[in-house]
Amino acid sequence: MNILILGSGGREHALAWKLKQSINCTNLFVAPGNAGTATIAKNIPIGVNDFEKIEAEVINNSIDLVVVGPEDPLVNGVHDYFLNNENLKNVPVIGPQKAAAQLEGSKEFAKEFMIKHNIPTAAYESFTLDTLEKGYSFLEKLSPPYVLKADGLAAGKGVLILSDLKEAKQELHAMLADAKFGNASTTVVIEEFLSGIELSVFVLTDGKGYKVLPTAKDYKRIGEGDTGLNTGGMGAISPVPFSTPEFMKKIHERVVKPTVNGLKSDGLPYKGFIFIGLIKVNDDPYVIEYNVRLGDPETEVVIPRIENDLVELFQAVANQRLDEIDLKIDDRTATTVMAVSGGYPGAYEKEKEITGFENIEDSLVFHAGTKLKNEKVVTNGGRVLAVTSYGADFKIALKKSYENIGKLHFDRINYRKDIGFDL
Ligand code: AMP
Ligand code: GLY
Repeated sequence: MNILILGSGGREHALAWKLKQSINCTNLFVAPGNAGTATIAKNIPIGVNDFEKIEAEVINNSIDLVVVGPEDPLVNGVHDYFLNNENLKNVPVIGPQKAAAQLEGSKEFAKEFMIKHNIPTAAYESFTLDTLEKGYSFLEKLSPPYVLKADGLAAGKGVLILSDLKEAKQELHAMLADAKFGNASTTVVIEEFLSGIELSVFVLTDGKGYKVLPTAKDYKRIGEGDTGLNTGGMGAISPVPFSTPEFMKKIHERVVKPTVNGLKSDGLPYKGFIFIGLIKVNDDPYVIEYNVRLGDPETEVVIPRIENDLVELFQAVANQRLDEIDLKIDDRTATTVMAVSGGYPGAYEKEKEITGFENIEDSLVFHAGTKLKNEKVVTNGGRVLAVTSYGADFKIALKKSYENIGKLHFDRINYRKDIGFDL
C-alpha cells in the first residue's frame, strides 16, 4: 500500500515510524513532514489544507490510504472532499468527515452532543454578542474560577480560566464584542469549573465498532509544577497510573459507548481517532473536550505501545471490520519529554542546528519542529523533538527520556524537568 500522512509534527513522525514497520506499507509519504519523517518517508512540500494539491499528489503517487494528523483539514472537510471527488472517492481517509469534526470545531456542538447523549460534562450555557448581558448574569451566578471557551478553533488558546468576576466579564466582552479570537469567539461557552486530575482516552472507530487505545496524560504548561503559559504539550505518559480497571469501566460505559453510539444515531459518519479529554472528579470521569485526531505529544507514547500492525488497523477502519481485530498493547509504560525552542510558547528563533542524535541509546526521538537545511537538521518550530522511552513504570521510562534528551543540543534548548511530578 502507498500511504500519505498529512501533517508535520511529532504525532506524524510517530505515525510514520509505526506505519513504516508494516509489511503492508510499500511507499510512505508525509505532507509536509519534517526532518525526522524525511529519514523514513518521502516528504511532499504542500500544505495540509491545500486539497487540490493533495488530490494531485494522491493521484501521481497512487496513494491507497490517507491518514490525517491535525484537526484543521478535518474541520475544513478534507474527508468530504475525497468522497465527493470521482478521482478520490475510493481512497480511504482516516479522520472523520466535516459534520462529525464539529466535535472539535465547535465547543457548543460538542456540549450539545454530550447533553443529548447523557455523557457527563460540566454544566454550561453559550452566548453571542446579542446575549452578552445574559452572559454577565450567568457569570454572576457561578462561583470562581470561571471557564470561558471560544466556540471555534483557536489554535489551542481559546480557553480562559479566570479567578476574578470582573476580569471574566471583561474577557467575555473581548471575545464577543472585540472578536478576541476572530470568528472563533462569535459564540462563547461558559462552563462550570471542574476540579480534578486530567487524562486522555484515545478511541479508534470505524463508525460501527471501536477500540479503546492506551490512555495518556500530557503536561500542557511551559513551567515546572504546571505553571506559566499553555503550550501544545511538554511531555506525556502512557498509561496513566490512576486509570484503574474500575475507572476505565466507567469511562467505557459512561463516555466511550455513548459517544460512538451517539455518532451513529445522529448520522455522523466517523472513521478515525476520537481523543477524549477527561477530568477525574472524585472517582467519576467528566468530558472536558473532544478532539477528532490523535494528540501531540500523546501520540508519541500511545502509538509506540500498540503492538498491532497499524496498516491492518487502518484497513479495518476503512472496511468497517475493526471488530475482527484483537488489539495488543505493550504492558510497559512509555514516556516522552519534549525539547522546545527557548522563548516558546512566546517568540522564539528558528534554524538552530541540532546535534547529538548519534548518542541516543534506548530511546526514540520523534521530530516535531525540525527541517533540513544544507543537509543539517535545524529547528523549525516551538516544539522541536520528543524523546520517548519505555520502562517497567513511568519513573524508569522517564529516567531514560531525561538521560537521552540531555545528549541533544541546540541553542537555547528547553524542556520540563518534572514530567510526571503529580503522579
Ligand atoms: P480545552 O481546550 O477544552 O482542552 O481546555 C484547555 C484546558 O482548560 C483543559 O485541558 C483543562 O485543563 C482546562 N479546562 C477546560 N474546561 C474546564 C473545566 N470545565 N473545568 C476545569 N478546567 C477546565
Ligand atoms: N496535547 C494536546 C493536544 O494535542 O491537543
